[in-house]
Amino acid sequence: MAKKKDSTLIVDRANRILPEHIGIIMDGNGRWAKKRLLPRPAGHREGAQTFRKIARYCNNIGIKVLTVYAFSTENWKRPASEVDALMKLFKEYLQEALRDFREENIRTRFVGDRSPFSAELQELMRETEELSADKTGMTLNIAMNYGGRAELCTAIKQIAAEIKDGKITSESIDEKMISDYLYTAGQPDPDLIIRPSGEYRTSNFLLWQSAYSEYVFMDEILWPDFTTENLEEAIDIYCMRNRRFGGV
Ligand code: IPE
Ligand code: IPE
Ligand code: MG
Repeated sequence: MAKKKDSTLIVDRANRILPEHIGIIMDGNGRWAKKRLLPRPAGHREGAQTFRKIARYCNNIGIKVLTVYAFSTENWKRPASEVDALMKLFKEYLQEALRDFREENIRTRFVGDRSPFSAELQELMRETEELSADKTGMTLNIAMNYGGRAELCTAIKQIAAEIKDGKITSESIDEKMISDYLYTAGQPDPDLIIRPSGEYRTSNFLLWQSAYSEYVFMDEILWPDFTTENLEEAIDIYCMRNRRFGGV
């Protein structure tokens, strides 16, 4: 059974110790569309539906934190038409979240540098966070314009500024302090990271936080086709892992 380093254990009805924090690299939207001779944005639209379903399910089974990778710092390299379609989809999703998600007991937060997004999108992100701030269920981190390296650069700049201002000393820098300067400050590290679509890499997702995460790569499935059964399968695989954290 997958052990946890510390913190409270979430045991479900099947007596499994659930991951407290799940990360998902929502990959394969483009290939899903291509297989159907559809334009790539059609895959993103379908992927957004899958995301809604999986987020609700994770909250229902008692997952404490879900982080989904929606748009990386490198995804701006894509053709402008695809980036525009993604921005349109984010806007639609956030408008819908503000309208319909009032009933959901999910606290939404955005991780990543939001400054390149339009003023309208940034305002929707702010409102979504504000509206859900006092929810008591799962925390949903939506990684948008997120990159693990960029996140570390931002943290290092902040720490350097505080040293310069005399607020902290360089000797006081430790792992806990660095974690506290990341977007995920105060949250447990991801226990399980799932990547569908057959790519076996992190693509800059939660670099610092994933030092001891269990990865489950699911080759057979593209994100738009991902089901709650696939999620359960990944959790079952996680539960069979022997986590040692460097110990014996
Ligand atoms: C993931 O799907 C969504 C984003 C990166 C925005 P992709 O668009 O990367 O899909 P593939 O990998 O090309 O199939
Ligand atoms: C990672 O997928 C980013 C998201 C899922 C948002 P990519 O499709 O961008 O990653 P690479 O290019 O295959 O590494
Ligand atoms: Mg991809």
